[in-house]
Amino acid sequence: MSNYVDRFNAFDRILHWTVAISFFLLVLSALGLYAHPFFGYFDLFGGPQQGIMVHKAAGVIFFVGWLLLFLRHASDTCRFDADDRKWIAKLGGYLSRKHQEIPQGKFNAGQKLFGIFAIIAALVMGATGYIIWEPTAFERGLTQFALLLHAIFFTLSMVGLIVHVYLATVGNPGTLEGMLYGQVRKSWAKKHASKWFKKVAKS
Ligand code: HEM
Repeated sequence: MSNYVDRFNAFDRILHWTVAISFFLLVLSALGLYAHPFFGYFDLFGGPQQGIMVHKAAGVIFFVGWLLLFLRHASDTCRFDADDRKWIAKLGGYLSRKHQEIPQGKFNAGQKLFGIFAIIAALVMGATGYIIWEPTAFERGLTQFALLLHAIFFTLSMVGLIVHVYLATVGNPGTLEGMLYGQVRKSWAKKHASKWFKKVAKS
């Protein structure tokens, strides 16, 4: 009998890594625009104009990919039950030495909150990105407000991403296997997503 259980199909994984790669391209190509000391990062793309072109193209890929990824997981991400509220009240047990057993579905409440924050951020970044795409297309005040929101949500997204990458890798060993190979160990599923595991084990 296999020690593994299916978690993400090929489509889910290709979509996730397309979103992740486009996100990193967005960050690298944005650094030169974000603050003067990072201007040299444009050299990675052959200069400021090319960097901005890459930023625009990666922005469109990220936005469409992220919408698809969110819709794909929306039924798991947008539903919170009593166990999720317990998870949030105890901050997932991350601030305690004792292991806390809080049964969770396919995604824990923290992952659900990250997914919801990320879709809000993508919508704000997409809308403000559209306004600043051609800096003289809209009224000056609106463009400046859009630039400010774009920079604030970029900073918040970076914080979210650092936490996401940490928890999906060294913070919770075994999690990355699911996004790389499509399967996770049954022991991982029982520990991290026991309600989801019971459901998939039955089918
Ligand atoms: C190097 C970068 C990244 C790594 C290593 C990574 C890793 C992972 C892993 C291992 C999972 C599966 C979690 C599980 O099975 O419970 C996952 C899920 C997910 N990832 Fe990423 N990811 C990265 C970048 C991103 C980016 C840039 C986004 C979007 C902005 C993103 C959004 C998501 C979402 C929405 C999920 C599903 C729910 C969740 O875990 O929050 N990831 N990621």
